[in-house]
Amino acid sequence: MRTIEWKHDGVHIIDQTKLPGKLVIIKCKDYERLARAIERMEIRGAPVIGVAAAMGIALAAKNSRGRTLVEIKKYLSKASEHFKATRPTARNLFWALERMKKLWVGALDPSDLVNDLIKEAVEMAEEDVRSCKAIGKNGAMLISDGDGILTYCNAGGLACVDYGTALGVIRSAFESGKKILVYVPETRPLLQGARLTAFELKSDGIPFKLITDNMVGYIMQNGLVDKVVVGADRITRRGDVFNKIGTYGIALMAKAHGIPFYAAAPYSSVDLSLTAEEVIIEKRKPEEITHITNVRIAPEGVEVLNPAFDRTPRELLSGIITERGVAYPPYDLSIFFRKSH
Ligand code: MRU
Repeated sequence: MRTIEWKHDGVHIIDQTKLPGKLVIIKCKDYERLARAIERMEIRGAPVIGVAAAMGIALAAKNSRGRTLVEIKKYLSKASEHFKATRPTARNLFWALERMKKLWVGALDPSDLVNDLIKEAVEMAEEDVRSCKAIGKNGAMLISDGDGILTYCNAGGLACVDYGTALGVIRSAFESGKKILVYVPETRPLLQGARLTAFELKSDGIPFKLITDNMVGYIMQNGLVDKVVVGADRITRRGDVFNKIGTYGIALMAKAHGIPFYAAAPYSSVDLSLTAEEVIIEKRKPEEITHITNVRIAPEGVEVLNPAFDRTPRELLSGIITERGVAYPPYDLSIFFRKSH
């Protein structure tokens, strides 16, 4: 089943905060509920929050049938600003909103507009699946039979509409018959590795071992890792990668051990405008650190730092896997993607 689906009664999403214990579907009937789901991380992962924002705009348009064109456009602008304020780091969210906006600014007829926005959002979901499949195929060529592969956080089907980016590479290598063993760090504070990546790999029967985040040096030093493949929330034109907090440390360790380190992402994660210094790193609430699954583990009143992402400088990457192929240094992703959206 897909992470997100457009249905006649609203947008259906898998509630990722309940996994792996329960499979709960949330039916979002208005854009506000979908925006709240992004904030609460009921839906999370860069590619799928882009699709969710697009579907949110389509939902806002659908719910404003009967209003004048001017009123609809005003309402869509409001909805778009609301989505922009949910999570700042992943490029995909802003990319999706910009793509939807192109449709409404020039619209002349209210009912055509509603239909066009729905069609576009649904098409973006389909494109995401196609991109992940292509990323998987391109990345699988880098994986050898017998490889130990370290991934991080969840860059799987749950972070996308289906199949996944980094996990797409792993899935594709596995489906082509390569014998691989995947190492999955739990990914504190929110445990996307332990809860979501482990859930996906287990469901697919792909061999893996779950480790704590502080075991990465150990498994590299002991020769268990041949390649690292992670996802990305934003990749700047020159190839700096913003991804889940802890990615930078893993990349440094990979460099020290001579292990190839790849980021896998669709074009919707590529940012041709901002420099690495301009990217906003989301800071999240202290309770994510002071508690684990709602159980307090730190003393009351401690000060906490909780950045959700970090930057891996391009020098630490061996390549960037995209739906167009693998980009190698020196990166200029504007050349790689010049004919796309
Ligand atoms: O905070 P999250 O869970 O949304 O962070 C997700 C990640 O960092 C993923 O690695 C990234 O979005 C790529 S997913 C294909």
